[in-house]
Amino acid sequence: MIRSVKGTHDILPDQTWRWRKIESALHNFMQKYGYQEIRTPAFEKTELFTRSIGETTDIVSKEMYSWTDQGGENLTLKPELTAPVVRAFIQHNLGSQSAVNRLYYMDALFRRERPQKGRTRQFHQFGAEVFGSAHPEADAEIIAISYNFFKTLGIDNLTLTLNSIGSEECRQNYRNELRSYLKPFLSDLTETSQNRFKNNPLRILDTKIKYEKEIIKNAPDIDSFLTADDKSHFKEVKSLLNALSIPFTIDTQMVRGLDYYTRTTYEITSNALGAQDALCGGGRYDKLVETLGGKPTPAVGFAAGIERLLLALESKTSNFNDEPIQIYIVGMVEDARSVCQVLAQELRDQGFSVATDLLQRSLKSLLREANRNNVKIAIIIGDDELANNTVQVKNMETGEQTTIIINKLIEYLTDLDF
Ligand code: HAM
Repeated sequence: MIRSVKGTHDILPDQTWRWRKIESALHNFMQKYGYQEIRTPAFEKTELFTRSIGETTDIVSKEMYSWTDQGGENLTLKPELTAPVVRAFIQHNLGSQSAVNRLYYMDALFRRERPQKGRTRQFHQFGAEVFGSAHPEADAEIIAISYNFFKTLGIDNLTLTLNSIGSEECRQNYRNELRSYLKPFLSDLTETSQNRFKNNPLRILDTKIKYEKEIIKNAPDIDSFLTADDKSHFKEVKSLLNALSIPFTIDTQMVRGLDYYTRTTYEITSNALGAQDALCGGGRYDKLVETLGGKPTPAVGFAAGIERLLLALESKTSNFNDEPIQIYIVGMVEDARSVCQVLAQELRDQGFSVATDLLQRSLKSLLREANRNNVKIAIIIGDDELANNTVQVKNMETGEQTTIIINKLIEYLTDLDF
């Protein structure tokens, strides 16, 4: 037997309805904020990700699914969506069409990480990106969207962790300071961190290794390197969040796993999750459009993992129920079979959800199945009903059975209001 690839999962019918609920909730929610959906291809040129996410990040250095195709092009299954959305923004010149572009997305992504609960190799994200505003209102809007969406779904105990990693200007000084601090520990660091020390010391702050975490605990904080503009931007973001009643904590060492950020970075975690507790992450990336060849355009965005969101919602199933089929139509005799099919079609045209039997089973076994599947109504047609132009309507909840003239059936079912 051929099994699915490690770290990938089928979403079976007992789960797909939960995905649909999230998807439709998201579309409604984003419409309220005036965001428009964007969809990009499953794979892109590898260079798009190396130039944006950064060569020394975990994603680019060890997690991408990349290959050279038959035409010699280096391609990669997308590991995240900000870079593809920026590419599309530049390619289609969206910036010239309106001063601010508010975009959102939902898609499958691929990272070759070690699978564990809440971490898979194919996973799904939804997210949003705003292009065109450098102002703190845009940061606050993005943070509010992610936070409020989780709240709307009923996820409590959220922790919003916030930081500002400043502009490029302040980071250059900070990098030097960080190197001086780390130098005495250099021989204790892993080979990866030693490389990062040379190329990108801020990456070391994102280490997952326990003894490295101990070392960086006392590293200098970035906030003393922020420029006056960075500081006032961050101050305004915080005061807008306070005004919107969104609680947050500050972590001056949070750099996140992608290199394109400037100023605001944030994560929202949930204590309903295990080790992989980040529901979403995001931040500002004012230089990325330029880096990828577009006109200088400030931008900010976030992305949230849908699998993790569903895990956090597992204890909240009461808000989430699949809608069962409403009506089963049962033909008791050979002659009733085509009548059943036609009636099913007429009822569907009226908006009911209807199933007929495909196995020519007995009434008893069909009623048992209808019960199991929470079907509301069974319509039964036998010889008598065919002769008299009637049907039997059985209410599966009460067990009550009524004879109805066939051309009064729709009216009768509509009045039942189930
Ligand atoms: P990220 O932090 O790499 O950010 O991913 C965002 C979210 O995707 C995570 O918080 C997590 O919920 C989910 N996620 C990431 N990797 C996995 C995985 N292997 N399995 C399951 N879920 C996962 C970004 O992707 C940025 N593009 C966010 C962004 C948008 N920044 C600005 N705009």
